[in-house]
Amino acid sequence: MTRTIKDSQGRVLDYLRLSITDRCNLRCLYCMPGDGVEWRPHGDMLSFEEFLRLCRILGGLGIRKIKVTGGEPLVRRGCATLIAALKSLPGIEQVTLTTNGFLLEEELPRLAAAGLDGINISLDTLDEETFRRLTRRSGVDKVLRALRAALEAGIPVKVNCVPLRGINEKELPDLAALARDQPVAVRFIELMPLGRAVKLDPLTGGETAAALEGRFGKLTPWKGRLGNGPARYYVPSGFTGTLGFIDPVSQSFCGSCNRLRLTSQGRLKPCLAEDLDLDLRTPLRGGASDDDLAEAILNLAARKPGGHHFLTGGGTPGQPQEMFRIGG
Ligand code: 5AD
Ligand code: SF4
Repeated sequence: MTRTIKDSQGRVLDYLRLSITDRCNLRCLYCMPGDGVEWRPHGDMLSFEEFLRLCRILGGLGIRKIKVTGGEPLVRRGCATLIAALKSLPGIEQVTLTTNGFLLEEELPRLAAAGLDGINISLDTLDEETFRRLTRRSGVDKVLRALRAALEAGIPVKVNCVPLRGINEKELPDLAALARDQPVAVRFIELMPLGRAVKLDPLTGGETAAALEGRFGKLTPWKGRLGNGPARYYVPSGFTGTLGFIDPVSQSFCGSCNRLRLTSQGRLKPCLAEDLDLDLRTPLRGGASDDDLAEAILNLAARKPGGHHFLTGGGTPGQPQEMFRIGG
């Protein structure tokens, strides 16, 4: 029998974003403070065995696709081993990775051997000076090398870029050109006003599209089906790859959201924009049975919020929601 996880609005939740660490080797302006990050003790994070137990239960309930994320997932040792184990879980059809690309080149052979189905590389700039300003670290060349190596390894690659006024705004056509020259999807993502990101000034998808049209001509939507997420795709003439727009703020896709998130601390979150979550670590470590955990998961999933309220005053007031803690 094939099971599905449904929320109270009938949305089918078959996609899990699994954050395996809240640590990161970069310090992006919109995500982390420059210094003084308080790391939680290692023991607060779930072990790989614990992630696998929860993912096995989730796969049994109806999760089909897992995106391994962070913080930066590749700073956690053994990430590829975890991916191989996730791939072998019953019900799990696809395992992909979101990374800032910094450690990717050296990990690629292990990731490819693990059967990784796709890689999203976060890349907001091609310019070293801007990279240093935005991530507070140097080495954009490392990320670009990793991008080429991933394409050579034959793993499908998407580049994710967050357009920010006064930071990478002038470079957006150059970033898009990566998709002209290489078989890669370059996706422009509207910055969501979470945590410290509220201090930055994002471009809307419409503004980004206008900037790209200045270089590549009118963008006409790609009619075919590409991907299974919220991105809208375009294939300008002469492009090897594709351009995508993900506009969570200006064109909310909450109505068709199929996601659940599991944080590195073992909290299950049905929505990025609300504080609502469920501590699974305590029952997991306290002897709960698989059935107990499954029931708790289904109860929380049913309560997935209808959507965010970014345009009318942000997520939940009070507690700041930091992306590196929740999982990007
Ligand atoms: N809004 C949109 N995207 C964000 N990311 C991090 N913070 C935000 C935000 N507030 C992106 C990163 C990375 C992905 C994991 O999430 O740029 O591409
Ligand atoms: Fe690290 Fe990603 Fe946050 Fe940048 S956005 S600091 S790469 S977790």
